[in-house]
Amino acid sequence: MATAGALAAGPTGRLFAQAGGATTLVASSSQREIWPGQVTTVLTLGDSFPSRTLRVRRWDLLDVELQNDLREPTNIHWHGLAAPPEDDGHPMDVVPAGGRRAYRFLVEEPAGTYWYHPHPDGRTASQVYRGLAGFLIVEDEAEQALGLPSGEFDLPLLLQDRRRRADGSLTYAPTPMDLMSGLLGDAGLVNGVPQSVLDVAASAYRLRLLNGSNARVMRVAFEDGRRFDVIAGDGGLLDQAIGATELWLAPGERAEVVVDFSAATLGRSVRLVSAAFSSAGPGMGMGGGAGQGAFLPLATFRVSRPGPAPRPLPARLAMPALLDPARASATRRFVMDMRMPPGAGAFTINGLSFEPDRVDVKVERGVQETWEVVNLSGEPHPFHVHGTQFQVVRRSGQALMPHERGLKDTVLVWPGETVELAIRFERHAGLYVLHCHNLEHEDAGMMLNLEVR
Ligand code: C2O
Ligand code: CU
Ligand code: CU
Repeated sequence: MATAGALAAGPTGRLFAQAGGATTLVASSSQREIWPGQVTTVLTLGDSFPSRTLRVRRWDLLDVELQNDLREPTNIHWHGLAAPPEDDGHPMDVVPAGGRRAYRFLVEEPAGTYWYHPHPDGRTASQVYRGLAGFLIVEDEAEQALGLPSGEFDLPLLLQDRRRRADGSLTYAPTPMDLMSGLLGDAGLVNGVPQSVLDVAASAYRLRLLNGSNARVMRVAFEDGRRFDVIAGDGGLLDQAIGATELWLAPGERAEVVVDFSAATLGRSVRLVSAAFSSAGPGMGMGGGAGQGAFLPLATFRVSRPGPAPRPLPARLAMPALLDPARASATRRFVMDMRMPPGAGAFTINGLSFEPDRVDVKVERGVQETWEVVNLSGEPHPFHVHGTQFQVVRRSGQALMPHERGLKDTVLVWPGETVELAIRFERHAGLYVLHCHNLEHEDAGMMLNLEVR
């Protein structure tokens, strides 16, 4: 069955199969006009900013050749896929400047919105910030039989914040304050475009939302408060759609929603925003300035043409392979903490800061565990695990969010909160990592080696 190789979306958005061969992604530096009239040096993968959208079918071979034309080491991590450890893009498994390597493995995950980005130790934040991150969309037959909005009605939206500089550059130069909270920008970019305007039809759309920010947690909502249906989280479709008017998405998390623009009069616009909140957590008042929790406009949808009448969503979307939390045979605790000043060793999980040669966590393949993730610090931390998907069982702070009712690989842990997960590694034995997906925190050592045996 593994014949087609990677399917890549070209600049037109159409799919083409690379018959029997690898898709080559060249990592290089190039110039783009991001802000009108200004030239910005960015990093591209596949000659695209943001990185090229890859589409693969479940049970196909992902077959990508990375050519590193940067002047620094890089690699690719396939965020959300349980890739074999040798293809997972471990922080120490990098491609030197000028080097090449192949990533080739079977995609076993169900249809969903995954993504890829570099993961070199200490350089992830800088490389993602300058442009290296792209969608990896997995499709399968069961999903395609559902009749969800597709083609031009299926929009992957990479949500990011960037700091607008007078010269238009995306120079990565975090201040000590940025190292504490993570680098937060004052400009919202969608698919690399600030103040993006999307012309849409008066119809239903499937929006694939990915928070690809370095550090900004987003409270994604439409400015007019319109309802949408949440249909998928990190690891694919939920069992059924759940209505919502807002979603918290931390860096690394994805959610798919279906939104209906059909009732809008032609010519009307509605903004997608990250609404204001307190970085202390939901319900804790509002944030200020451009810091964590600041209001940030993302994109404007302009309803500019008539479209097909939306079809009702199927009552059942999928049967995600959920775990029964009662079947866990061990409990582990991960305590995320940080202390001042934000120098070496300040960001820790269980008191430890990343050491390449030390294996911190050893788990048995096939054995289900309960993980309690505790946040003792005053900052939100998105907890991310490589090598499997997990399930959120409960949060001490509030109810589960709609997109947390399916499989996940990244979960937001608010200050003072404990989040309980059901987790099992089934696929491959070998060395992975788990870490905070605030990329400044990750690069500062909020990451552990995890060995599956
Ligand atoms: Cu999206 Cu280990 O990362
Ligand atoms: Cu990952
Ligand atoms: Cu963190």
